[in-house]
Amino acid sequence: MEKIMLGVSGLSVPPVAVGCMRIGGMDRKTAEEFVSASLDLGFNFFDHADIYGGGKCEEVFGDVLKTDASMRDKIFIQTKCGIRSGMYDFSKEHILKAVDGSLKRLGTDYIDVLLLHRPDTLMEPEEVAEAFAKLKVEGKVNHFGVSNQKPGQMELLAKYLGTPIVANQLQFAPTNTGMVDTGFNVNTAFDGAVDRDGSVLEYCRLKDITIQAWSPYQYGFFEGAYIGSDKWPELNAALDAVAEKYGITSTGAVASFIMRHPAKMMVVTGTTKPSRLAEIKAGADIRITREEWYKIYLSAGNRLP
Ligand SMILES: NC(=O)c1ccc[n+]([C@@H]2O[C@H](COP(=O)([O-])OP(=O)(O)OC[C@H]3O[C@@H](n4cnc5c(N)ncnc54)[C@H](OP(=O)(O)O)[C@@H]3O)[C@@H](O)[C@H]2O)c1
Repeated sequence: MEKIMLGVSGLSVPPVAVGCMRIGGMDRKTAEEFVSASLDLGFNFFDHADIYGGGKCEEVFGDVLKTDASMRDKIFIQTKCGIRSGMYDFSKEHILKAVDGSLKRLGTDYIDVLLLHRPDTLMEPEEVAEAFAKLKVEGKVNHFGVSNQKPGQMELLAKYLGTPIVANQLQFAPTNTGMVDTGFNVNTAFDGAVDRDGSVLEYCRLKDITIQAWSPYQYGFFEGAYIGSDKWPELNAALDAVAEKYGITSTGAVASFIMRHPAKMMVVTGTTKPSRLAEIKAGADIRITREEWYKIYLSAGNRLP
């Protein structure tokens, strides 16, 4: 499994981030096994958010960290802030408070990467810059990024930040390919031409911002997993064919599909099962062909003009 550079952070990270949004209900032993299995696979980059499980996910992870004092230096912790009940909040006050809360729940004194979770239209970029500068000087956060932002929003932030945006977390799966579709359908009247994210894929590649693909196994907006679903027969057949050829599973084939894109995206997993992480690792080691990539893309109902 080849590592990738996380934006211009200088951090060399695995192409798979272990998403921790669904670990809030795990007991200590299960959580320990989950983290340990991730590390055995070389997956040492963990994705959190202050709101996952109402804080419980960070807490469960923090309890695992406490069991082994040497673990913290061997892993990367990314978390997010900026979502509050019924609103988004990128105020300096909220960002600082949220990070202190995450540090406490995680039981660590630094976060490797902090992402702004969902764009706040009331954002004052000067305030965000002040918050980030303070967090960096205090050693609480080393690197910064965003999530679900389009180029104009990142440009606005970048004008004030004294630190680079190293990552942008965006939804991407064979069933959620908006940022690719718009590139294929330029200058056509087809639905795929509708640009919902302002050429964010090309922008991130131009600016060396790593795209992190969230919900890689869900269709729609958390409507369910498409693997094994009878709503996606052609997609499942295409994934099965790739899986069979390379001796992996269809879950692994999805990771191969996402990583085959030259944007060098990270896959942010959501599974709570170590066995599925192992399938994803097997897929991360395979480079599928151009023909296979297009076959999977088209089998999810996408069209080329
Ligand atoms: N930035 C954002 O706005 C944002 C939004 C959402 C999520 N995220 C991040 O992205 C991560 C992934 O999101 P997600 O949990 O929605 O991702 P996902 O990997 O698309 O979905 C995982 C869910 O699908 C189930 N699943 C069923 N079949 C599966 C298969 N064959 N392979 C893999 N999973 C299968 C898993 O169940 P099992 O546990 O039983 O495997 C789990 O419940 C989160 O943990 C979070 O870190 C970020």
